[in-house]
Amino acid sequence: MKLDRRDFFAKLGGAAAVAAMTHEARADALEHYMMAGAAGPAAVTAAVSGPATAGDGKPFPTVADIEAQIETQSRRRGAGNLFASANGNVKRLAPMTAKPTLVDYFNLRFTQTSNHCLQSANRAMKNGMSEEIILACLLHDTVQELIKVDHGWWSAQMYEPYVSPKVTFAVRYHQALRFYEDKEHGYEYPDLYRRMFGVDYKPEPYIEQTWQMARKHKWYYESRMVTVNDLYAFEPNVHPTIDQFTDIIGRNFKQPKEGLGFDNTPVAHMWRSIATPDHPL
Ligand SMILES: [Fe+2]
Ligand SMILES: [Fe+2]
Repeated sequence: MKLDRRDFFAKLGGAAAVAAMTHEARADALEHYMMAGAAGPAAVTAAVSGPATAGDGKPFPTVADIEAQIETQSRRRGAGNLFASANGNVKRLAPMTAKPTLVDYFNLRFTQTSNHCLQSANRAMKNGMSEEIILACLLHDTVQELIKVDHGWWSAQMYEPYVSPKVTFAVRYHQALRFYEDKEHGYEYPDLYRRMFGVDYKPEPYIEQTWQMARKHKWYYESRMVTVNDLYAFEPNVHPTIDQFTDIIGRNFKQPKEGLGFDNTPVAHMWRSIATPDHPL
């Protein structure tokens, strides 16, 4: 499985445009490309060692390299997908339904995260995982449309009123578990993280402490399985649809009758922010 370099370059505006990009911008673009489901895990290695992302001769950036790029960007790396465009202006969004369901959000707002999350849930389903793990995989990165930094915690908070505590646990801690290998369960540290965080990155103490807590928890397996199914959920030409999961959603997700965003929960504003990101205040 190889990176379709022509497709990747075309999406970024051609080889000249890629050559003009900073190291950081290329890494971000590659991440976006993979999140959209257009490249496989082998593509990361191919890209890292090839000219598309190794123009400076270094296969992976260091933490210092990444920090040095901060003031060369117009947006911060933790900003949600809906609030910035990696390539030109943002687009006008389709109106939301009057009483939005989770499926409506998948169809109308989770445009940059849905394929990756659907692939992850599809893989969990094929691997015979429980419905709670499949649902956790389906939801795990969707909050990145709103915010990326600490997305495990944000995501779990946004879904807390609607799913079981086990699903919330799996979603919240997949973020920290992503940094720690667990070969027994088939999870290795991803090259994507060497690219995103720097080859010499050491997780902060709160991540380390979270890992130490989660690894001893009775629901560790559920959270670990989100990371295992996550690792391989960047397959080209695999495009599962949300219809495959409507039964699992129906049994495991408490859809509010007023619609997500209008049900007066402590997280309703998070849903509204995803529904209407063009509101200036
Ligand atoms: Fe994630
Ligand atoms: Fe993910």
